[in-house]
Amino acid sequence: FFSGLAQDFRPTFHYTPPKNWVNDPNGLVYLDGEYHLFYQYNPFGNKWGHMSWGHAVSKDLVTWETLPVALPEYPNTDGTTTMVFSGCAVVDSLNTSGFFEEGFHKGLVAIYTSHIEGKAQHQSIAYSSDKGRTWQLYEKNPVLDLGMKDFRDPNVIWYPEHNAWIMTVVKPLEYTVQFYESKDLKTWALLSEFGKQGDMTKIWECPSLIKIPVEGKGKNQSKWVLMISSGHRQKGYLAMQYFVGDFDGKQFTPQKQEEILYVDEGKDFYAGIPFSNLPPKHKKPIMIGWINDWEYANDIPTGDTWRGAFSVPREMSLRMTPNGYRLFQRPVPMFQKVMSKKALVAKNAAISGVWKVPFQGDSYDLLLVIQPQKAEGFTLRLLQSGEEATVLRYDVATQELSLDRTKSGLTDFHRRFSGIDRVKVPLRKGKLYVRVLVDKSIVEVFAQGGEKVMTNWVFPTKNAGEISIASEGSSIKVNSLSIKTF
Ligand code: FRU
Repeated sequence: FFSGLAQDFRPTFHYTPPKNWVNDPNGLVYLDGEYHLFYQYNPFGNKWGHMSWGHAVSKDLVTWETLPVALPEYPNTDGTTTMVFSGCAVVDSLNTSGFFEEGFHKGLVAIYTSHIEGKAQHQSIAYSSDKGRTWQLYEKNPVLDLGMKDFRDPNVIWYPEHNAWIMTVVKPLEYTVQFYESKDLKTWALLSEFGKQGDMTKIWECPSLIKIPVEGKGKNQSKWVLMISSGHRQKGYLAMQYFVGDFDGKQFTPQKQEEILYVDEGKDFYAGIPFSNLPPKHKKPIMIGWINDWEYANDIPTGDTWRGAFSVPREMSLRMTPNGYRLFQRPVPMFQKVMSKKALVAKNAAISGVWKVPFQGDSYDLLLVIQPQKAEGFTLRLLQSGEEATVLRYDVATQELSLDRTKSGLTDFHRRFSGIDRVKVPLRKGKLYVRVLVDKSIVEVFAQGGEKVMTNWVFPTKNAGEISIASEGSSIKVNSLSIKTF
């Protein structure tokens, strides 16, 4: 019974490894028609261990092909093993590293944390002349070593104003990000530090610094955004936080912010990093995150084969709001082309009580524009079979959108799994716009054009895949509802 069911948890349009364990995305880079997704991977089991870089490539950011392990853990002469922890990859098109033949513009360099269990973490590099299929380790590794046990997750960008590479890397236990500069990816000089502010409820991991364009008011400019994987003060789970500010090539200065800013308000979005070297047709940076929470990541009941998944690639932009700049995220547009079968459109429907949507399925892209009018709120029940459902609810009085997985199916495999996430989302001209990507066991909610996002695992047991919408108090208006599938 269980294994048949478990097979059903495998999402269809979110990348999962054919088998074994995954965590963080690593080395997201575009080169020559291919988007690369490297990732923390255990080639030998479905729990964390033997960390290596797994590898998948895509031509459209929607469908992925899994390739052999790119960087496996390696033995040292003293009997220890070096694991390949999180990091990034860049295209060294000017051959600044000198690793490639003269005139070769397609060299890839991976910058990752070399981890020796219980002993050391330092940054190392590897290079590839064949689009990431085979790699050579740099013989003088590590390239950056502070003699620390916790010092990790380098993310490197090209900074044209200085003709140099800039690395963002973190000292997790000190809640401190460091910025380094290098001309050749081999020698690194400290530029500055940033830290000891924002959310410090959990250690800091996987930092990245990127320039993000502003949309709407004040467009044609960009701001720098520093993202860090850490904790969520309100919930005590893991989450990603971000700071918006300026970077002058040396130092990051955040804008004044009254509240802590979180990338995703669900429980299962972590370790997200942006792509490097995107072609100009992408006007906005793109990020992929790991769908999971370390709280229970090793225990999610996906069966014996695979464990862990990646988010749909998300475009990032900034918008000025009354509270300052805020990050907006949307699934990449390519995605819409693939989800091209429109299964249903409802327009201007008044609902009082429960409306059972005439659609059944467990993998789709749903867009709902809804007006609560005088109602107290409404619910959208997804992946429903009788009492079992994943429930998205809007509360008009508190302006809160909540995602409730307490009755979503299997929840008792871990005491920290069941629960309700809440985020404040004011209506816009009386309306709520919600886009929900439902993919068997993954629910990604984008509210108000991506201003608030919630990503969660759910494990439905019955799989009837019904959807219903219900008003609370008085009637509501569904301005439009569309559901797209493959
Ligand atoms: C984040 C993380 C990183 C580390 C990697 C190890 O999820 O803990 O800090 O490099 O996972 O797998």
